[in-house]
Amino acid sequence: MAFNFISAAEAATIIKHGQNIGLSGFTPAGSPKAVTAELAKLAETEHNNGNPFQVSIFTGASTGDSCDGVLARAKAIRYRAPYTTNSDFRKAVNNGEIAYNDVHLSQMAQELRYGFYGKVDVAIIEACEVTADGKIYLTAAGGIAPTVCKLADKIIVELNSAHSKNLMGMHDVYEPLDPPYRREIPIYKPNDRIGLPYIQVDPRKIIGIVETNMKDEARGFAESDPVTDQIGQHVADFLINEMKRGTIPSSFLPLQSGVGNIANAVLAALGREKSIPAFEMYTEVIQDSVIDLVRAGRVKFGSTCSLSVTNDCLDSIYNDIEFFRDKLVLRPSEISNNPEIVRRLGVIAMNTAIEVDLYGNVNSTHISGTRMMNGIGGSGDFTRNSYISIFSCPSTAKDGKISAIVPMVSHEDHSEHSVKVIITEQGIADLRGKSPKERALSIIENCAHPDYKELLWDYYKLSGAKAQTPHYIKAALGMHAELGKSGDMRNTNWAEHM
Ligand code: COA
Repeated sequence: MAFNFISAAEAATIIKHGQNIGLSGFTPAGSPKAVTAELAKLAETEHNNGNPFQVSIFTGASTGDSCDGVLARAKAIRYRAPYTTNSDFRKAVNNGEIAYNDVHLSQMAQELRYGFYGKVDVAIIEACEVTADGKIYLTAAGGIAPTVCKLADKIIVELNSAHSKNLMGMHDVYEPLDPPYRREIPIYKPNDRIGLPYIQVDPRKIIGIVETNMKDEARGFAESDPVTDQIGQHVADFLINEMKRGTIPSSFLPLQSGVGNIANAVLAALGREKSIPAFEMYTEVIQDSVIDLVRAGRVKFGSTCSLSVTNDCLDSIYNDIEFFRDKLVLRPSEISNNPEIVRRLGVIAMNTAIEVDLYGNVNSTHISGTRMMNGIGGSGDFTRNSYISIFSCPSTAKDGKISAIVPMVSHEDHSEHSVKVIITEQGIADLRGKSPKERALSIIENCAHPDYKELLWDYYKLSGAKAQTPHYIKAALGMHAELGKSGDMRNTNWAEHM
């Protein structure tokens, strides 16, 4: 079939006010960039003419500025799911301008198939190749692309020559059947391949191909600092110790690691520690640090949803693709994050918290309980189902004015039942097998910053320290209230909350 090659501006006009748009990508990797930017301009023109223009967006995870950023600034998003990291989008959400649904990433594709979010009108898919018989070869991420291609009435392909065609063959595209017909997903090792290297669509649904040459809007990372280095070393020490005492097999278990500077520091420490054998990853994002470890032979295999790496790193993978071909696989997010597989493989989950309470409940998403940061991402998919779930974070934020260890989390994403280990630069609280009161002692003693230890002990005493999960409810959010009042949790005076 001969395709219709159109400009990004023409493609944008296919999308109408009120429609639901499905996107490829997972993090800025593999997300559309050209049509979404034109869609934002179109929305602005419509708004200037006094017409409403907003769409709903379904995607794999965060996107780049030329999607979430421009569309949020143009006030073109009515609703969006799931995870995002864009600061303008965040502002709009916290101003009440966008309806944001922070769903677990593994659930996004299936909930679309179940019909929970309505229909998908148009899919915009970034590809490195598309064939006349409807084979779409994705770029640097799997995301929910197979599902939105299946569900959408119309597909627009951004054929991006900034991504090498060497990527063809790196994806393993597989969609499970929906209940009551679903069977086990036959992945028994991180490197098992169970699907196709492309998405097969009816070529008649591809109503336009937009040729682009646009790099992924990858984010760089800050240099590691003593705090993140110390956290990384604690995580490595913890895992080495578990291996020594036989709770982690000597062949090791696959690792999942979140995004960001702490995740990078953790991986660097694991790479350095030669008493940890070369390991595999079953994870949703691979960052530069993992690629370095693959090259160094420290990571044997990486199963991921996206190559969320810097552009230099991505180019270096493309240039050395034969080396990486049997060391990496890219999967849709419902497979990379699938609870069934995470539990079967015994994945060790390592994620970052915003705050943790005395009993091991974790807030990953909301600042002071109400303001959205990014979203839960895949942290819930992995934490709940992992072999061991580790949360790490610096013991304080904002120059010490905020303690990451609080009496009660101001918003809960991961409950005490799923969270097994807390690590800050101060130390390690191993919560496994402990009662709530035993957990509180371990968390305050090992993880709280010295500036906050006494304050937390005083709260614990105030709570009576007797009940199954002791709290003095009137004061439970007293440190957050103090932050709101004086801007510094260290000024908390429990007497004011009695
Ligand atoms: N109160 C207020 N602000 C806080 C805070 C708290 N308790 N804890 C952290 N912050 C702020 C930091 O000061 C920093 O602010 P800045 O951007 O102005 O410097 C920001 O939050 C990020 O914190 P940082 O310590 O640099 O860690 P990070 O970049 O690793 O981000 C999360 C931490 C929790 C926001 C991030 O990991 C996340 O979005 N997690 C949820 C998704 C997830 O876990 N995915 C896992 C699979 S990929």
